[in-house]
Amino acid sequence: MKKIGVFTSGGDSPGMNACIRAVVRSAGFLGVEVIGIKRGYQGMIDGEFVNLENKDVANIIQNGGTILKTARCQAFLTPEGRKIAYDNIVKQGIEGLVCIGGNGTYTGAGIFNKEFNIPSIGAPGTIDNDLYGTDYTIGFDTAVNTALAAIDKIRDTADAHNRVFFIEVMGRDSGFIALNSALSGGAEGVLVPEILGDYDSLMVHFSNKTRRNKEFSIIVVAEGETHGSTFELADKFKKQFINCDVRVSILGHIQRGGSPTANDRILASQLGNAAVENLLAGKTNMCVGVVNHEIVLTNFDEAVNNKKNIDKNLWHLVNILSY
Ligand code: F6P
Repeated sequence: MKKIGVFTSGGDSPGMNACIRAVVRSAGFLGVEVIGIKRGYQGMIDGEFVNLENKDVANIIQNGGTILKTARCQAFLTPEGRKIAYDNIVKQGIEGLVCIGGNGTYTGAGIFNKEFNIPSIGAPGTIDNDLYGTDYTIGFDTAVNTALAAIDKIRDTADAHNRVFFIEVMGRDSGFIALNSALSGGAEGVLVPEILGDYDSLMVHFSNKTRRNKEFSIIVVAEGETHGSTFELADKFKKQFINCDVRVSILGHIQRGGSPTANDRILASQLGNAAVENLLAGKTNMCVGVVNHEIVLTNFDEAVNNKKNIDKNLWHLVNILSY
């Protein structure tokens, strides 16, 4: 291969720039040209290509967002859209792709690979950490630390007013950010989609006579919690504990931005490099990840069809440590 393409797709995550940098410089080191594709699959269809040389990725390792921009592309879901994208890729002389993103990105890459046999390797970029085939995704650590910084601040005002705060963190279908930010933030409870009876357990916990007479509480709720929206859960709680002064805070997209942590920059650098080396070694239709500190490859189908489980011990630990 003499020329490869790289793009970011789906929700951005801190560390995507560090990964693009690693792809460009690893390829350059091996004498391979890199074309950046802007706005993910959308830019592939619209023909938005840029040459990326070593100097183009200087001074970006510390930045959140993605210099290549990103998009959630509907047109790529159609065979016609994918055909246009393929024709554009061929026109550019691109012989292989590095796709940085989450589940949707991998699904698209797998279909594209099957239809047009274009060699592709994925690198896991999503704050949600919900990708099978890697212990951690690029951006997760930063998002947890951003949520944690916000929780620490909310704790001050919760303490000052003796309030119960329901704090919603991101995680469309998963509780990874919620669990890690709750445990590190000393929360009194955490609600995640993976644990079905978690709301009832929280009620039991608050009713328990052995519970210390705490004046304020932090309860972290994953966006994807299935028992209801965070506002609905807070209302329900208020009806049961009428003496509690309850507030809701939705942290939202601040969790997607900001300078990546050292861990995310290191992970992004390792995985960007591994993506290029594996692509050039002839591997395709797979994503790179880190499992037990080792770099591993997982087939796109396997990655998108399996669910990565949360560590339920962490959920128990939040409850044990809040007594
Ligand atoms: O996938 C990452 C994520 O931040 C989820 O946690 C969240 O549900 C979703 O993206 C939000 O997407 P958008 O920015 O498109 O609204």
